[in-house]
Amino acid sequence: MNRKKNILFLFPNYPYLYTLKLQTTFSMSRKEDFLKYQAQTTPFPLLLDIEKAEGCWIYDKSGKKYLDLVAGVSATVLGHSNPIITKAIKDQVDKYMHVMVYGEFIQDAPLELSKLLCNNLPDPLNTAYLVNSGTEAIEGSMKLAKRVTGRGEIIAAKWAYHGNTQGSMSILGNEEQKQKFRPLIPDINFIEFNNIDDLELISESTAAVVLETIQGGAGFIIPKDGYLKKVRERCDKVGALLILDEIQPGFGRTGKLFGFMNFDVVPDILAIGKAMGGGMPVGAFIASEEKMAMLKSEPMLGHITTFGGHPVIAASSLATLKELLKGNYMNEALRKEQLFRKHLNHPEIKEIRGMGLMLAPFFENPEFPVKLMNALMGKGIIVFLLLFEKRALRLSPPLTISDKEIIYACEIINETIGELM
Ligand SMILES: Cc1ncc(COP(=O)(O)O)c(C=O)c1O
Repeated sequence: MNRKKNILFLFPNYPYLYTLKLQTTFSMSRKEDFLKYQAQTTPFPLLLDIEKAEGCWIYDKSGKKYLDLVAGVSATVLGHSNPIITKAIKDQVDKYMHVMVYGEFIQDAPLELSKLLCNNLPDPLNTAYLVNSGTEAIEGSMKLAKRVTGRGEIIAAKWAYHGNTQGSMSILGNEEQKQKFRPLIPDINFIEFNNIDDLELISESTAAVVLETIQGGAGFIIPKDGYLKKVRERCDKVGALLILDEIQPGFGRTGKLFGFMNFDVVPDILAIGKAMGGGMPVGAFIASEEKMAMLKSEPMLGHITTFGGHPVIAASSLATLKELLKGNYMNEALRKEQLFRKHLNHPEIKEIRGMGLMLAPFFENPEFPVKLMNALMGKGIIVFLLLFEKRALRLSPPLTISDKEIIYACEIINETIGELM
């Protein structure tokens, strides 16, 4: 209040300036409150103050709009406030919300969702366990693998990211990130993604190999030369299960419903999340009915959750999946990839890794992507960084992004790279 009075006293004849100052005071205090009251994950959050979001655009409280090339990190696959999804959510809210913990009552949305998911997956992926997040999908997958095989060892990939709870963090492929949180779960070993020789490390003691189908945080690394098939063969040989983490590439982003469908391989357990919710928090792990049945006995309640399969979230997921299967989004993701590759052509971009609408332009200098991200934010374009690969930027827009929006974004990115060089 004092600050407000001072400004008025200093600028009594400048209402415009006064309004401007007031806005600054208002937004400063919101930023201060955000930094003070909401726990932070880094010392430099992006601090965009959100008013609303529609389609591929996010609006801040000053009315400035931003073209979203991140989609909440591959989550809002059909764009923000998609009316098909919001209607499904509202209809479900009007009927009922939480009525019982997971797995007891029969409810339309989670039942229909599980059925539709399984009917669009190859054998033996025919039973879905709905959970609350990607990390919980991974926790459930690892527990199921231990339960099924009776073995303890889990093998994951260097530079992998599978979530942040302690089980998922145990298989995170970067020691620096997890060192301070040790002890984590024991019996974890690492192989290098795409390295065939390392597959010898998978043995009769291995319960499961957990891999991202496309390594996200490591720089959108695609499996090459039949790598995943060779992992599959090795797992079959030694009786280990293959868990594929599709939490990022899943739900159409790579041109197929799930990324693994591009690589002629089927996992024993599929972990999904992010885009599955159409903007709501969700996850699931999917396996054969026979394997999944082992979670219900000896001991009973092998995995339990209060809110997994929540009807409102399941309604949102179901509407998202139905729309994805009905529309031409997946083919379009591949065509739109080509549009990005054609128009994102500044010579400082050394290569563009990834597939479909999961693309990572690479630069030589690892300090450059942060600068570019901040400069683009000023120009109303949202891009983001990758967890481990500092030389790259993340582009994972909603699949609904239009050609015009892609070309506009590429022009601004090229122009901004030129200005920063
Ligand atoms: C490949 C992968 N697995 C797991 C997760 C964890 O998902 P969540 O943040 O929903 O727990 C993420 C999140 O970024 C991810 O990218």
